[in-house]
Amino acid sequence: MTLSDKNILLIIGGGIAAYKCLDLIRRLRERGASVRCVMTHAAQQFVTPLSVGALSADHVFTDLFERQDEHDVGHIRLSREADLIVVAPATADLMAKLANGLANDLASTVLLATDKPVLVAPAMNPRMWAHKATLRNVATLRADGVHFVGPRKGEMAESNETGEGRMAEPLEIVAAIESLVDTAPKPLAGKRIIITSGPTHEPIDPVRYIANRSSGKQGHAIAAALARLGADVQLVSGPVDLDDPDGVSTNHVQTAREMEAQVHALLPADAAIFVAAVADWRSADSADEKIKKVAGAGAPAIQMVENPDILAGVGHHKNRPYLVIGFAAETQNMIDNAKAKLKKKGADLIVANDVSHQGGAMGGDDNMVSIISRTGTDEWPRMPKEAVAARLALLVAERLKTISV
Ligand code: CTP
Repeated sequence: MTLSDKNILLIIGGGIAAYKCLDLIRRLRERGASVRCVMTHAAQQFVTPLSVGALSADHVFTDLFERQDEHDVGHIRLSREADLIVVAPATADLMAKLANGLANDLASTVLLATDKPVLVAPAMNPRMWAHKATLRNVATLRADGVHFVGPRKGEMAESNETGEGRMAEPLEIVAAIESLVDTAPKPLAGKRIIITSGPTHEPIDPVRYIANRSSGKQGHAIAAALARLGADVQLVSGPVDLDDPDGVSTNHVQTAREMEAQVHALLPADAAIFVAAVADWRSADSADEKIKKVAGAGAPAIQMVENPDILAGVGHHKNRPYLVIGFAAETQNMIDNAKAKLKKKGADLIVANDVSHQGGAMGGDDNMVSIISRTGTDEWPRMPKEAVAARLALLVAERLKTISV
């Protein structure tokens, strides 16, 4: 029971995603939490206080001026008695009120009166989410320390539009709540894990370099998921456009050789996970000065040499970590190629992803992977990179359970 004795105050905003709150309440109570609900006037157009009250097994609070509500509990006590306030769905209107300190109904008054952590799960039409006013409010809320889960990309319930704006799934919201109240189990406490992520940049001259399309999203998500399970995570990241993940030590590098040196400097470790899309080759001698275009001289020939294989170097190292995991991006014969890589690189597991499909792993938000070990293959369904990360982190915890501490 990861949430036993926790009091969650759930503020339900007026959006079609309000129906998902019924499931959210059930999931939270299954984990031992007490859930008390506040519904805005608009929320009651989508789900009834009767259903919300039946699932939460408590009075549902709807009105700032209702004598019974204000007299019995009051907005100050409502926020004081909670360990965490969750706003789901967080509509554009609710976020705008919170960002600007407006308090003209029970939900916004509770939010202004609280000093407890607040988690919002936005849900709205993609155009509303992308509107400058909403972006401004989101930035203000983040700066104020409000936590976010979602929104996700996907089809909108009320129209045929797709885009960013769909509320995170109830289980994702539960995971975010667990990590905020910090009652999530820590099966990786005391374990040191090295992880590489992102592309590498191989210089040709001081201004030009060879790179690839890796965004680092998957590797960074895995680093964050491992940290949430209590691991001491050492992330070695190539150049990416992402924030350093929370709770992780991030080491920034540019080239494959720098990445290799950093990984070896961080050994020994209990596990090492190689997610980085390391450039296979680099320019043999990167020029110290910018290569000039000389009329009539034609294009310069770039002599390439092979980069060290970082995964293979660690997989075959005499002090190799107990668990070594590689990734394989394939466009054909995915399973066979991954099996060959397992052997060649001395890995225990290969996470193979098919990068041939449109909107595939490279740069996208979703991933569909197969986990290949010496004993078989486990195919996982397509899911967001965060979900792949969470599941892989649990698999790592399972595998590391067998080493004595
Ligand atoms: N890898 C590495 N160092 C390299 C190249 C790759 O550590 N110089 C790691 C990657 O991080 C990944 C795995 O090896 O975990 C597989 O990389 P991939 O590029 O798919 O395989 P290659 O060995 O480069 O084979 P190919 O490109 O021919 O598929």
